[in-house]
Amino acid sequence: MATKNRKILVTCALPYANGPIHLGHMLEHIQADIWVRFQRLRGNTVHFVCADDAHGTAIMLKAQELAITPEQLIADVQASHEKDFAGFDISFDNYHSTHSPENKVLSSQLYLTLRDNGYITKKVVSRLYDPEKEMFLADRFVKGTCPKCKAEDQYGDNCDACGATYSPIEMINPKSVVSDATPIMKDTENLFFDAPQFQEMLVKWTKSGALQSEVANKLSEWFESGLKAWDITRDAPYFGFEIPDAPGKFFYVWMDAPIGYMGSFKNLCDKTDNLNFDDYWKKDSTAELHHFIGKDIINFHGLFWPAMLEGAGFRKPTGVHVHGYVNVNGEKMSKSKGTFIKASTYLENLDPECLRYYYAAKLTSRVTDLDLNLEDFTQRVNSDVVNKLVNLASRTAGFIAKKYEGQLSDNVAEPELYQQFIDAGESIAVLFEKREFARAIREIMALADIANKYIDDKAPWSLAKVEGKALEVQEICSMGINLFRVLMTYLKPVMPKLTARSEEFLAETLDWQVIQTPLAGHKINKFKALFQRIDVKKVAAMVEASKDSIEADKAAKEATAVAELEASKSELDKEPLQPEIDFDTFSKIDLRVVLIAKAEHVPKANKLLKLTLDLGGETRTVFAGIKAAYNPEDLQGKLTVMVANLKPRQMKFGLSEGMVLAAGPGGKEIHILNPDDGAKPGQRIM
Ligand code: MSP
Ligand code: ZN
Repeated sequence: MATKNRKILVTCALPYANGPIHLGHMLEHIQADIWVRFQRLRGNTVHFVCADDAHGTAIMLKAQELAITPEQLIADVQASHEKDFAGFDISFDNYHSTHSPENKVLSSQLYLTLRDNGYITKKVVSRLYDPEKEMFLADRFVKGTCPKCKAEDQYGDNCDACGATYSPIEMINPKSVVSDATPIMKDTENLFFDAPQFQEMLVKWTKSGALQSEVANKLSEWFESGLKAWDITRDAPYFGFEIPDAPGKFFYVWMDAPIGYMGSFKNLCDKTDNLNFDDYWKKDSTAELHHFIGKDIINFHGLFWPAMLEGAGFRKPTGVHVHGYVNVNGEKMSKSKGTFIKASTYLENLDPECLRYYYAAKLTSRVTDLDLNLEDFTQRVNSDVVNKLVNLASRTAGFIAKKYEGQLSDNVAEPELYQQFIDAGESIAVLFEKREFARAIREIMALADIANKYIDDKAPWSLAKVEGKALEVQEICSMGINLFRVLMTYLKPVMPKLTARSEEFLAETLDWQVIQTPLAGHKINKFKALFQRIDVKKVAAMVEASKDSIEADKAAKEATAVAELEASKSELDKEPLQPEIDFDTFSKIDLRVVLIAKAEHVPKANKLLKLTLDLGGETRTVFAGIKAAYNPEDLQGKLTVMVANLKPRQMKFGLSEGMVLAAGPGGKEIHILNPDDGAKPGQRIM
């Protein structure tokens, strides 16, 4: 693997400045930090930066609620975030804020360049408006009764009770959550980033190796339906940066947030000698740029951000590395169960390195979710770190200290075994590089097993009782310590504190290079306990301390909802949103429950099935492209939903009189909609 000095800039997603860091966030920061520490250990130059994401409606409202200024709120939250990250030894070179002078300058600069290059368009749009608070409302800031199941107190975009999705305007008795007023629709002229102009570039870039293949695949769905222009403005009142040429309009938080990566790095450059902003951001930069993010914010980093960079004349990311979500004990983190664990609560009870080790032991380069099972966590850390790794040192160090005054043998007892451990280093390095941490840990622990077996077989404790075997005992124990030294080096990116204590004991600084030669005739320091085994009582105490009142749980849900709104977080499998339509337009679509009376193959058609649909008296023929997903006989007798007033279309195989509704990307992955049992053919769907 190439170890010539690479120049690498690494970022984590910028946490919102309206809530505490929790163990979900920590997955990302630990993953990135392990990668960063590994790169440094290999001799590369790394700058690791982050910041708080300080803008947006949620933060503005939270500050109002607390009766403080947003500036005060974000300063307090940033201090607590920085403390939590330091507690977990996240080795940032800089931690800044998006509400900073650097970010303001850069955001303006990017925007104006995009505008001058013809990538900014203007459009009048109709948006929900709170007439009392005099502010525009996103869907999530409206609550009301579900138009479908009549459940009360539902958010303006979907119903928690029945799962229906709708526009807030269709709700029964919609209310602004900010003032309780009934929202109205109001026109406003907004600025859009013309993403469609970048589609071709993005199609190429997403396949260039910068993304995991599953992420690239996900994004390709957006290309199929065509990128849409992206609204980058929000009207006052808004906590953010006012747009230079549009007074009263602010940059949408997701516009200036990724620019915050640049802002934090600029801030670092300004206080560091010989660190040059352009070296890392100019178009033809040879430095690497790596973003670590969660799966909920893929579209911002995989589409809009590279397009903005391209449009404004900067380089694009080398890699956007996406991780899944953390679940605790197999479920979404929950305040009521005490599994919504804040970083600070964890640190009050447990050693940060236990979580670093456990996450590493489970992390792959894929987007899968990660289960923090607290029982498995306790057991895994104790058995790997304490019983295997630390034990290797503790069972051999005693002899060296007591009988040989801390002096390791001059001779290396098993050079081949030592070499085997060194040779494994290259494949372990490749795994770290590829973010296959779980596999790296597995290899390291397999080596620990070999080392322990060596000591077991040689049984120095028995030999020590035999006269004339003193030298042999010293050599065996020195061998054990040498193997421990190699393993600790490999684990240095994962457990920096344990490594630091080991370095003190070994009286030397570990890196990939120094271990190429074994330690011989070297004096080590007295062995002190290196690691505390996890006490299950501490884990229970942490869960107990995380249990909050029901009220708190509700608040958390709201906070999450608000955060989600700010992000307009489309989950991994959400399609891009279509332009808004009013209720009149919607009500023109005649959706009907229909019975599939007959389903047949169409001779010579590759994709189509011919469906005869019963609308409760009337029948229709529809050709549907679902052949790859269904056998005709499985469809017969099923209820589904059709658009009954779609203009009939003459196809090669006959006249298609409407369309059945189905979900999914296509091919085999297509599912026709299926109403509840009680529905009757012909009934209109509203
Ligand atoms: N502010 C935006 C990011 C802007 S980046 C230019 C944001 N903030 S966040 O606080 O909601 O999330 C920060 C990061 O933490 C995201 O990458 C997100 O995916 C990650 N996680 C938040 N909750 C998580 C879990 N439960 N599990 C794993 N990662 C999680 O999004
Ligand atoms: Zn409902």
